[in-house]
Amino acid sequence: MSTESIEASGVVTSANVTSDVSVVTTTHTDQRTGGPAMGQRILDIRNFSVDYGWGEGAVRAVNNVDLHLNRSTVLGIAGESGSGKSTLVYGFTRLLRAPGVIAGGEALFNLQSEDGTDIIVDLVTASEKELRKVRWSNISVVLQSALSALNPVLRVGTQFEQVLKTHRRDMSKADRRARTVELLALVGLNEDRLRRYPHELSGGQRQRVMIALALALDPQLVIMDEPTTALDVVTQREIISKLFELRSRFGFAMIFITHDLSLLVELADEIVVMYAGEIVERASAQALYDTPRHPYTLGLLNSFPPMHGVRTELTGIPGSPPDLAQLPTGCNFNPRCPYAMERCLKESPSLADLGEDGRSVACWLHSGDAGVVVPVELRRTGKGKREPAPMPVKRDVS
Ligand SMILES: Nc1ncnc2c1ncn2[C@@H]1O[C@H](COP(=O)(O)OP(=O)(O)OP(=O)(O)O)[C@@H](O)[C@H]1O
Ligand code: SF4
Ligand SMILES: [Mg+2]
Repeated sequence: MSTESIEASGVVTSANVTSDVSVVTTTHTDQRTGGPAMGQRILDIRNFSVDYGWGEGAVRAVNNVDLHLNRSTVLGIAGESGSGKSTLVYGFTRLLRAPGVIAGGEALFNLQSEDGTDIIVDLVTASEKELRKVRWSNISVVLQSALSALNPVLRVGTQFEQVLKTHRRDMSKADRRARTVELLALVGLNEDRLRRYPHELSGGQRQRVMIALALALDPQLVIMDEPTTALDVVTQREIISKLFELRSRFGFAMIFITHDLSLLVELADEIVVMYAGEIVERASAQALYDTPRHPYTLGLLNSFPPMHGVRTELTGIPGSPPDLAQLPTGCNFNPRCPYAMERCLKESPSLADLGEDGRSVACWLHSGDAGVVVPVELRRTGKGKREPAPMPVKRDVS
């Protein structure tokens, strides 16, 4: 399989970072501080927007997103279907296909050399050549459609062989074989799978193969877009446990996308919640679970059963996500929000720092000048004591 076809198949991987650093020429310091540009930060996305279509017919699927990720940490992205999770990651990894276009912003990726020097490439402006090297060297992506992404006419072993041959030219055939067997073992598969074609594997086995391929070249950042949605719950759990065991072992940073917020609460260090293409809340996983600040986050938490603990009644979120071509005025969530106020119908809240250990939220309830009492459900405290807090009956704000 050529590198092109591997990319098209949904896995982007490449060789060890140190061997490819020299291709990235964009080295700079932070202009605001004059100090090291990113330090522990591996990814810094700023004001990032993506449109589908052009001109008057364009819809904004990702709007002014700011996002950052530190080395060796897990960032979860949650949100209902259509909230822009996949578009965001396809956008900044430049895997977006027409009619998707990046409408603005930057996505700084820090390659960081072995001596700790920041080597930063803006994935948005990088040339195709630079991008390919960086992407394949350092970032691997398992796309949402990964289950059907393996090449159906090539044996599993051949697919590994071609990835390693393309990116580790110094590897002998025997070394490639040994590495492939090692990778399969990492994801709990026997080497006899190497002679199989993808259709001869179960869905769970194919997904394990995809994960092994994604890890084949020691990426610094692994992006998983709903990697297990098509699998049964038991297999999902097994694969996710394996994935996180590998992450602890190899220390790569990870972006994990799912609409299942309760899963993320268990797996991620930090979580961002997206709604209608925007980030509406960002917090540590524990803080988000214990004290959700945005009504939409609360609604999502009440839509999924917790992975452990007492059974709770699920309440869901009334209504459905907005049509991006006809967003409401004011806060995008106002038609569904039980706490909506007059101001919410007119003005759109920006993501604002709450001064609580990096937490931020886009909701007028938490604005200092809102002059309203924050509902108790949205300022709950008490670690691990989340009671099911049903969404209140929608108030009439007309
Ligand atoms: N090719 C496309 N053309 C036009 N609009 C698109 C296209 N792909 C996605 N969109 C729109 O962009 C928005 C974001 O879609 P996206 O696939 O990023 O959502 P998502 O959060 O990943 O959803 P899911 O959980 O279903 O995967 C949606 O409103 C979707 O309809
Ligand atoms: S800004 Fe208003 S409508 Fe939007 S989430 Fe907050 S309370 Fe609800
Ligand atoms: Mg998606």
